Amino acid sequence: MKERIESLREEALAALEAAASAEALGSIERRVLGREGELTRVLASLPKLPKEERPAVGAAANRLKEEFLAALERRARALSEGDVEGERKALGFDPTLPGRRLRTGSLHPITLVARELEDLFSSMGFAIVDGPEVELEHYNFDAINIPPDHPSRDVWDTFWCEGTSGLLLRTHTSPVQVRAMERLTPPIRVLVPGRCFRHEAVDASHEHTFHQVEGLVVDRGISVAHMIGTLRTLLRGIFHRDLEVRLRPGFLPFVEPGFELDARCPFCGSKGCGVCKQSGWIEILPCGLVHPNVLRAGGLDPEAVSGFAFGLGLSRLAMLRYGIDDIRWFFSGDLRFLRQF
Ligand code: FA5
Repeated sequence: MKERIESLREEALAALEAAASAEALGSIERRVLGREGELTRVLASLPKLPKEERPAVGAAANRLKEEFLAALERRARALSEGDVEGERKALGFDPTLPGRRLRTGSLHPITLVARELEDLFSSMGFAIVDGPEVELEHYNFDAINIPPDHPSRDVWDTFWCEGTSGLLLRTHTSPVQVRAMERLTPPIRVLVPGRCFRHEAVDASHEHTFHQVEGLVVDRGISVAHMIGTLRTLLRGIFHRDLEVRLRPGFLPFVEPGFELDARCPFCGSKGCGVCKQSGWIEILPCGLVHPNVLRAGGLDPEAVSGFAFGLGLSRLAMLRYGIDDIRWFFSGDLRFLRQF
């Protein structure tokens, strides 16, 4: 009987040591001291033992009971206080080691610049609107005063969707001008950030897939002065200071008059540097007053309302902003590049 008690002792104490939860302790306690527990059965069998064995076996069984209950309490306390060693054994790993660091993503530089512009223009009462990337030839060209035989279609050579009539990947965000006019009534103030596509010879400053932001305002009596004021605010928002601007004549079929807006180089204070190619000026965007034919295509009366529009190269702006020397980084998927933002 003494051997039975000894082996029960070893087994029960080892089980307590390995237990990793309060549930496990409960089940060990039931196994040892429950109604059918092994130690309970030993204690119950005492009266049947020969008289001379009883005191020694009884004393050993009672010592084990006390020892077991004390160990059970110790283990329960250790578990509730976070016994790391026991937990480590039970779990099979060391919870005290630092965890594996989860890498969080970050916003793409184009998204960062787009959001800044969206915030700025929202504060001026512009609605941020979207248009389809797979566009109808009508909106991309005809409706904005570029008929099929117009030579400027060559500048916007694009990807046509095979097997469809007149579906293409939009070459600019300007198709949203007429879409917006069809849906909204003046005063119209919209900003359209979005992806564009061109059949380009790709180099450090030309991508086949890039981002633009279109701005359009249509109301009574809109003039070039409104346009300049808005674009100066845009520059202040981007470069955080007032920059002198100049307008050069520019030709695009959907604006009349059309301009190219330049700003004093913010990087060298107009002294001449690599960014402004020593000219002191950087090209910012093409812009102009909305051509009457475009207003008509949008269902508006050019005698009653006028407007201005601009098309900012968002990818190139992000390059300027962050000093990125090659546009191909944006879609390179290279994490060394992306983790810098
Ligand atoms: C246009 O796309 C006109 N729709 C902009 C416009 C809108 C003018 C409203 C007037 C009124 P342009 O082709 O110049 O214009 O492109 C505008 C800007 O997009 C360029 O200044 C340039 O920054 C950017 N861009 C054009 N092609 C690419 C390209 N392949 N890769 C990266 N950026 C480009």
